[in-house]
Amino acid sequence: MARLSILRYPDPRLHTVARPVTTVDARIRQLVDDMLETMYEAEGVGLAATQVDVHERVIVMDTSESHDRPVVLINPEIIARSDEMSLNEEGCLSVPATYDKVNRHARVTVRALDRDGQSFDLEAEGLTSICVQHEMDHLVGKVFVEYLSTLKRDRIRTRMIKKAREEQKA
Ligand code: NI
Repeated sequence: MARLSILRYPDPRLHTVARPVTTVDARIRQLVDDMLETMYEAEGVGLAATQVDVHERVIVMDTSESHDRPVVLINPEIIARSDEMSLNEEGCLSVPATYDKVNRHARVTVRALDRDGQSFDLEAEGLTSICVQHEMDHLVGKVFVEYLSTLKRDRIRTRMIKKAREEQKA
């Protein structure tokens, strides 16, 4: 396994729309394993392939408290969503140290392929529901800060660019 580098907002590659996975083969399983290692290492609860500059519809997540329940979603599609919405604070490994509230469906049902290419349905609520919607946004090139006001987003963008410059100098 290998740790992958995570693209940081406002990297334009984060706005790429991912294509569906055609075959769940050894290459995809390797990608899944590397993404899981990367996510756990970064102490995140979810990671989309877009964030590691691979533009295929692959998501890994683990919203368990024990961090030992990895979930793999390949070619995920939301097949049901609750009318009820829920406003929760979100963060993102591509936008470090930035948290803000986003309104999401309280519950969603997602259909996807697992690491073996088998189809399954996941009924998600709470953090898992938020995570599914957040990661699926990444696959269509959307970062959570795009839900915020232009003013807030511009501030985040400026702060992230400044931070990247400082890190380059160091
Ligand atoms: Ni994210």
